Amino acid sequence: MGDVLTMLETDHRVVERLLEELSASEPGPEREQLVAKLESSLELHMQFEERELYPLLQRLDAEAEEEAENEHTLARDGLTKLRELLTEPGFAAAVDMLKGGISHHVSDEEEEAFPKLRANVSSDRLGELSTRLLTAKRDANVLDDELAQLTKEQLLEVARQANVEGRSSMSSDELRQAVATTAAT
Ligand SMILES: [Fe+2]
Ligand SMILES: [Fe+2]
Repeated sequence: MGDVLTMLETDHRVVERLLEELSASEPGPEREQLVAKLESSLELHMQFEERELYPLLQRLDAEAEEEAENEHTLARDGLTKLRELLTEPGFAAAVDMLKGGISHHVSDEEEEAFPKLRANVSSDRLGELSTRLLTAKRDANVLDDELAQLTKEQLLEVARQANVEGRSSMSSDELRQAVATTAAT
């Protein structure tokens, strides 16, 4: 059975990589594309957590849940700033601010909230949510883009979470295809 929390942790790694690429970017179409990718991946991730996961967290730790919601608001503000400063000299500082906020939030989730959820939510429920997350990504057209950014090792892990049979002998392309098909069924 897959575990949505592991998938969300992979999302965190993808977002961190996009932020690194943005730090090194120059103004232009490539930067614009990176920001668009970051916006869609992060927005889908946050909405999924807010709809499907934070209600479960709220019952376990109401304060942690409130903190997480506030941190999402800060991340959205940070994304807005990135957009505003896309071609401006302050862009790198805006990326650093967003990085700082996101890294704080990701630590809170991975070190506190997710372990609490893992210990208290049934593996059936977490497995069901992992399928739902893949479907939401496919419906929002971010799945293919995100899968393209994963290392082979990360692809194998996502395939494991999605219960893809025969994954250990698959190539990266085959893994992407199989995960995308899981989301479609
Ligand atoms: Fe998250
Ligand atoms: Fe979050």
